[in-house]
Amino acid sequence: MVAMDFQIEPRVLIGRQEIEVTVCRLAAQINEDYRGKKPILVAVLKGAFVFLADLIRHLDLQVEVEFVCLSSYGQSRESSGKVRVVQGLCTDIRGRDVLIIEDIIDTGLTTDFLLDYLSQQEPSSVKVCALTSKPSRRKLPVNIDYLGFTVPDKFLIGYGLDWDEKFRHLPDICFIEEE
Ligand code: PRP
Repeated sequence: MVAMDFQIEPRVLIGRQEIEVTVCRLAAQINEDYRGKKPILVAVLKGAFVFLADLIRHLDLQVEVEFVCLSSYGQSRESSGKVRVVQGLCTDIRGRDVLIIEDIIDTGLTTDFLLDYLSQQEPSSVKVCALTSKPSRRKLPVNIDYLGFTVPDKFLIGYGLDWDEKFRHLPDICFIEEE
């Protein structure tokens, strides 16, 4: 593990090889389901950028990539309950097949908000692809069309996930013990 300059020792929950196998599995399902279509992948910043980067390199489709930046956590472990649009969508998705790309679905508030936000722009379809899901923390039900891992209620970092903006670079999905 990478040495840190403060007293946090990340422990591996899902290793990089297992992540890679799962990303390939998800990409294969997406390739199959969207064959002949030209989906727009809408990735939710910041956390989804690593997952997106790996996933798209296994897609055998004519995809476009867009980003939205949403935030409800700030520096806190608990969702504020209010999703904030830091940067909205910059393209027209009317009549298009949209696939949301998330690193984690926790309370479900972000995804619920985003589904509503995107639906107002009248896409042809909207589906959800999430690398991880923490169903034990759900406040709103979310239908996940493509799911990598169901994860326990631990504080996760790495592979895009942060703690106070740190640790996104770790290649494994790790957890830190809470005090
Ligand atoms: C994380 C994650 C999701 C959201 C999920 O983002 O990337 O977008 O939380 O949580 P929810 O299901 O409880 O709404 P965060 O707000 O931490 O911002 P980040 O992606 O910049 O880390």
